[in-house]
Amino acid sequence: MAVISVIGTGYVGLVTGTCLSDMGNQVTCIDIVEEKIEKLNNGILPIYEPGLEEMVERNVAAGRLHFTTSYAEGLKNAEFIFIAVNTPPSSVAGGADMRFVESAARMIAEELDHYAIIINKSTVPVGSGDIVSRIVRNNLKRPDVTFSVVSNPEFLREGDAIKDFQNPDRVVLGSSERDAAEKVARLYLPLRATIMITDIYTAEMIKYASNAFLATKISFINEIAQICERLGADVKEVANGMGYDRRIGRDFLDAGLGYGGSCFPKDVRALAHMADEAGLHPQMLHAVMEINHDQRRLVVNKLTDILGSLRGCVIGILGLAFKPNTDDMREAPSLDIIRWVTAQGATVRAYDPVARETAVEAMKLHSISLDNVTFCETAYDVAEGSDALVLVTHWNEFKSLNMQRIRESMRRPILIDGRNMYEPSEMTNCGFIYRGMGRGSGPAPTILPPGDTTSTLPSEPALSLTEGD
Ligand code: UDX
Repeated sequence: MAVISVIGTGYVGLVTGTCLSDMGNQVTCIDIVEEKIEKLNNGILPIYEPGLEEMVERNVAAGRLHFTTSYAEGLKNAEFIFIAVNTPPSSVAGGADMRFVESAARMIAEELDHYAIIINKSTVPVGSGDIVSRIVRNNLKRPDVTFSVVSNPEFLREGDAIKDFQNPDRVVLGSSERDAAEKVARLYLPLRATIMITDIYTAEMIKYASNAFLATKISFINEIAQICERLGADVKEVANGMGYDRRIGRDFLDAGLGYGGSCFPKDVRALAHMADEAGLHPQMLHAVMEINHDQRRLVVNKLTDILGSLRGCVIGILGLAFKPNTDDMREAPSLDIIRWVTAQGATVRAYDPVARETAVEAMKLHSISLDNVTFCETAYDVAEGSDALVLVTHWNEFKSLNMQRIRESMRRPILIDGRNMYEPSEMTNCGFIYRGMGRGSGPAPTILPPGDTTSTLPSEPALSLTEGD
């Protein structure tokens, strides 16, 4: 089993370190923030990630997982050193801030007294592997020490991070030293995943291209949703119909409020920035970002279409986090929506199962006044006296709400479903004025199971299988 150190205890670092220790390796996680390490040593995690707390506890108890602020202690005997610090957006529009990666590289150089493989997991601009190499080489306290650099981009989704680590679609490794990449590959062998070894620039690019492609799928379906809405089609069924084509796939074709979070917005911007800097004009990436921004506005437009002025209205917000199963508020659509509706004179009642504290912090950070926002304990509290409800984050618990009770407690029965969570016909039958994102109101089509020849087709023409032309 390997001796590993992981620098950075954010989402990526903590999940990577914990999962590697769970595979039997000796792992020490290093972070410069003392408070974070102190809490981790007391079993308190800085993030909400399902299953992680138990896994940390288990591996700490087994003596395989340690936390420290000391690089000297953390790098002792380490054969593999993962850099998993964050690369926030830089002050240069669209760029990635490399400060934390660079300082991690310097700290490694100052403590390293034996050969180690330095593995970059942070999302860094293409070419950063060379920068890490150069910083370590130029700052080595013992110039006789050798090291290798490997890029190993992460593809973890928040909320599914452990599952994604343990069952990756692929592990990408990039290095100019094949031997080093193969040694890292051996760490991942127990996962029985597809492992791809390539050069460092390509590995770094795979991360950006993957995230940009997924963001493109989202903006594409959001544009289609707008067209569907105008022409009377239902984007959910359109996405299902498209998804049966294996070349397309159904994933990431959920129309809604667009993408948020710590990765997609930042990575698409950074990739466009790299291309701009290289003298290119990446038209598609710019369109993807523009559509994503406009998508949030649509919700406010839907509200004003029905309510006219929002002055004096009470708008209920269901869900604040950028997506379900996380308390992460980075680039969450709820922030823009709250800012815009309160700017128009509305007050907000909001509820999120876990993101209340992070939402307050995020609102302060983005100078959104808390004066006109009431945080509620349940979705039912939000509905009480509201003029409209906006479903912003599709937490599972919102699926099973008693919608009759919700409607009866509202001042006006307006439901804007920003994530297409509910069935339009059911909501209309329940008495709501319902607006989804690109959903027509035609009858639900019937899908026969593959190869089912015994089922009879319903007789209505709307349900017959139509031929494409
Ligand atoms: C993403 C990538 O999936 C992951 O591989 C990468 O390492 C980090 O960024 P994450 O940010 O955790 O992960 O969220 P993800 O589940 O991918 O969703 C991203 C955003 O897209 C969310 O705001 C989500 O609501 C939105 N989304 C996703 C849609 O709007 N429609 C979809 O069909 C899918």
